[in-house]
Amino acid sequence: MHQLIKTNDGSFTLYNEVLDETYHSVNGALTESLHVFIKNGLLYRSFEKNEIHILEVGFGTGLNALLTLEHKPINQKIYYTAIEPYPLKLEENIAYFEHFAKAPKKVSAIASMLQNDGNGFNEIESGFYFSLLTQTVQSLSMADHLLRYSELDIFFNGFDLVYFDAFAPQKQSEMWNLETLSSVSEQMSKKSLLTSYCAQGQFKRNLKTLGFNVIGVEGPPGKREMTIALF
Ligand SMILES: C[S@@+](CC[C@H](N)C(=O)[O-])C[C@H]1O[C@@H](n2cnc3c(N)ncnc32)[C@H](O)[C@@H]1O
Repeated sequence: MHQLIKTNDGSFTLYNEVLDETYHSVNGALTESLHVFIKNGLLYRSFEKNEIHILEVGFGTGLNALLTLEHKPINQKIYYTAIEPYPLKLEENIAYFEHFAKAPKKVSAIASMLQNDGNGFNEIESGFYFSLLTQTVQSLSMADHLLRYSELDIFFNGFDLVYFDAFAPQKQSEMWNLETLSSVSEQMSKKSLLTSYCAQGQFKRNLKTLGFNVIGVEGPPGKREMTIALF
């Protein structure tokens, strides 16, 4: 069990004792998710395709996934792959959202999201397909996704959008190094976008080395800057 921490906007985050790190910003968990992943990710620019393939690195509480479900563009399908080697137990995950002053609208979907039936996608709601991979991001490659998608007969040429939501570089440096980021970039499509709350210099230099066009934009409350990287 994790310790629950109330954040400045009335939403909550969890505290990881081993890393001495919270899952979200204490300045507002919900506000941060909406700003970094919805406004500056899903809605940053229009995807000129009928299907959007999203990869979330670090599913955690599922807050980003629930907000994506809530903000899904009407005429587009979303295939959402979440990576999380340490998923929460369903009871803890449901209890977490019960504390919110204003919970995400579709919070009941968390139960279906936590169902991990191997490599397949669950249709959570019409046009929103979800798959939870309980492994590390370092253990995944483009070949794994090509296989997963081919078994479902869905065309896949890489993720269009990556929510890079790992614990901070000071706590889990291996998530942000060139090797991990290079492997993530190999799983992205042409004209794709990666968004992250992190604005660390080394992270941005690594992205540039990999060929991303790195844009610093205003961060959520309490953070001067965050990062959008166009591939
Ligand atoms: C900042 S939290 C994610 C918060 C989450 N997106 C949310 O909305 O609640 C970072 C997450 O990365 C996960 N994680 C740790 N090591 C990982 C790895 N090697 N690959 C992928 N995820 C990892 C952690 O277990 C944790 O849930």
